[in-house]
Amino acid sequence: MILAIESSCDETSVSIIEDGKHIRSNIVLSQIESHKRFGGVVPEVASRHHVEGITATIDEALNSANTTMEEIDAVAVTQGPGLIGALLVGINAAKALAFAYDKPLIPVHHIAGHIYANHLEKPLQFPLIALIVSGGHTELVYMKDHLSFEVIGETRDDAVGEAYDKVARTIGLSYPGGPQVDNLAAIGEDSYDFPRVWLDKNSYDFSFSGLKSAVINKLHNLRQKGEVINEANVATSFQNSVVEVLVGKTVAACKNYNAAQLIVAGGVASNKGLRTQLAITCESNGINLSIPTPQLCTDNAAMIGAAGHYLFKAGVIADMSLNGYNHMDIEQCSIE
Ligand code: KG4
Ligand code: ZN
Repeated sequence: MILAIESSCDETSVSIIEDGKHIRSNIVLSQIESHKRFGGVVPEVASRHHVEGITATIDEALNSANTTMEEIDAVAVTQGPGLIGALLVGINAAKALAFAYDKPLIPVHHIAGHIYANHLEKPLQFPLIALIVSGGHTELVYMKDHLSFEVIGETRDDAVGEAYDKVARTIGLSYPGGPQVDNLAAIGEDSYDFPRVWLDKNSYDFSFSGLKSAVINKLHNLRQKGEVINEANVATSFQNSVVEVLVGKTVAACKNYNAAQLIVAGGVASNKGLRTQLAITCESNGINLSIPTPQLCTDNAAMIGAAGHYLFKAGVIADMSLNGYNHMDIEQCSIE
């Protein structure tokens, strides 16, 4: 039984995971309301909220799992990537628990966590392709086995979630705008002609800054001319461009790598347009698709516990010098 802690951005989360897949509890304390008025996450504010909430969240996770620290086998924690001050709160809480109760401490890469969120619902099947789409990441990862990560493509500029949030802000929606753009996109029409950025034909890399600028420029131009803007149509046109490229490159990767499974991870994996289009395209191409329920797509500690279970079995244990990192290469976390 693993107690897992996630605090890399604006969610303080603690979870109790049994055998790497049974969620005994998964408490998520969101700070979104606090960051909304700033239009984005303020790192210093995030750290302070983590400090305020971490102890109560640990207690609540243990209580709702009906267990105690004595029964816990190991403590897993997000080591990075993320906001350094935010990460350090979780890491120090994890160290304190591991030290006080004499439990092993397991460092977990945040993106490995997002990937293993899928394992909480459906066993991972290898080789697999993982599409990671979040506020900070857009990557295609090839896994030939557990804990083997090869990045085959990544964004050259903005992450998808970042582009969503900036487009949302220009439309006038509050932070985080991604889900609101998704809702608007469901009721609009694809009437604006936004670019599809494919880059080189054989590359699995992405680029979203050109699309983001095209949308923002269009909105500014229309406003300057005093023309009526159909916001739902802007959202649909933007989302269609994002989804077409994401799905096109991901399906090509699945075919070229003979993937037994495609998994989708990260906050943007809860996007309804992306989920629908992936489901249709995977069905017609015979690709086995797995996307977690939306609650497991956004940041949570259950996913850290799921990845932590395999790292623990592989003997990945940290000592009390464990540090957090703003940037961390997932390939370096591979266990061969
Ligand atoms: O994985 P996550 O919770 O945090 C990071 O590790 O970044 O992802 C948060 C991102 C935000 O940019 C948010 O706007 C975006 O995921 N997001 C969405 C949707 N739900 C969350 N973007 C588009 N459509 C959604 N339904
Ligand atoms: Zn995340």
